Amino acid sequence: MASLQLPTRSRSRNPVPSTKAVILVGGPSRGTRFRPLSLDVPKPLFEVAGKPIIQHCFDAVTRVPEITEVFLVGYYDETVFRDFIKDAHREHPKISVRYLREYTALGTAGGLYHFRDAILKGRPDRFFVLNADVCCSFPLGEMLRLFEEKDAEAVILGTRVSNDAATNFGCIVSDTHTKRVLHYVEKPEGHISNLINCGVYLFSTESIFPSIKTAIKRRSDRPRLLSYPSSEALDSRDFSLNADEDEDDENRKNEVIRLEQDILSDLADSSKFFVLETTDFWRQIKTAGSAVPANALYLMKAFQQQSEDLAKPSAVILPPVYIHPSAHVDPTAKIGPNVSIGPRAVVGAGARIKDSIVLEDAEIKHDACVLYSIIGWSSRVGAWARVEGTPTPVREHHTTIIKNGVKVQSVTILGKECNVGDEVRVQNCVCLPYKDLRRDVSNEVIM
Ligand code: GDD
Repeated sequence: MASLQLPTRSRSRNPVPSTKAVILVGGPSRGTRFRPLSLDVPKPLFEVAGKPIIQHCFDAVTRVPEITEVFLVGYYDETVFRDFIKDAHREHPKISVRYLREYTALGTAGGLYHFRDAILKGRPDRFFVLNADVCCSFPLGEMLRLFEEKDAEAVILGTRVSNDAATNFGCIVSDTHTKRVLHYVEKPEGHISNLINCGVYLFSTESIFPSIKTAIKRRSDRPRLLSYPSSEALDSRDFSLNADEDEDDENRKNEVIRLEQDILSDLADSSKFFVLETTDFWRQIKTAGSAVPANALYLMKAFQQQSEDLAKPSAVILPPVYIHPSAHVDPTAKIGPNVSIGPRAVVGAGARIKDSIVLEDAEIKHDACVLYSIIGWSSRVGAWARVEGTPTPVREHHTTIIKNGVKVQSVTILGKECNVGDEVRVQNCVCLPYKDLRRDVSNEVIM
């Protein structure tokens, strides 16, 4: 790999500061909590509020006029984002969009460092980094303003969550007056702060790459002392009994450099790391069920902005509702609020759909009821059937509830091509693809 050529240290290299953006899309080994939906589509391309999850990030980036280059960085196959990139080019011909594929998972900072030559080409002053799996209004303009006002090296987007939820995220201690980050700890064991990392950053190119380089050096000096599981690894941890696999795992971990654990705490020691606190909506899209509140939040935002893409409110359309132009919804069906209906879906007479996502080619027969659910691609819900989850506040940061002493998904999810018989009731279930449900079922994972 070519050695790092950093621009000379000068705050005003470009007459108009130039900015790029990186969207971290992860890879197929991530997103396992998004099953069964990620069995059929890579999580970043799953549609919420009528658009792929990454499109929401990309749209936010395109609203920053000075950004002309965007990288999707991940370790999915080369072909995965081809169509997305083609569409992005068509819509924004002046913005270059490229997918940069890591040969293996390099971690949130490892990927940036690996592709530093591409990021640094043209000597940009700064670049945004967005986790693809967050849902928010991405106030990138405000982050830029804070960055300039403070002559910052890094700005992180933060939000307040409940004290209980905070330890599931990176926690930020800041000076409320100056907005300076004083202390950063990733997923701490105990309470530190309820101001958390939203997974959206703006970095100065001059300072971030040397910081990553230092972290890499530190890692190679003390290779085995450090291992940092992500929340996903913590959730699905399985202890291998095979020594070779353990060693491979260890080697892989040593290659992984994470922004959160390896870089941000160090940045907090500098005086040029600031936090922009957003009071607008924010949540993660981790589990499949979290797509339902994310859908609601994006639809509400679109409704506030009077988006033309939404269905017009009426006696039977309770806003916000998105209906793809190729879908067919019977005029007597009552839809909304917080519903997205995908391409070629068919909704029969008298059906009721609320707080749900109905995916491409699905069919909801007459008089069926779909609440707090995701109806998978080409699935069919029979006449008078009832598919339902349990309402949870959209801003709450978990998607499970306790029912009869057992933890279950609050949202019901039907994978691809499932069939729910006429008059059958499905409640708080996760149903893998191609299942045929002919009797009432509740609180189950149907494999
Ligand atoms: N390119 C690439 N390579 N992307 C990756 C990799 C990698 O090796 N590992 C993770 N990502 C992407 C994921 O796809 C996701 O978009 C983002 O980086 C963060 O993923 P995780 O590593 O699973 O972290 P997390 O979601 O548990 O926590 C992070 O996000 C929270 C906000 O949602 C941390 O930044 C937390 O501090 C933060 O609160």
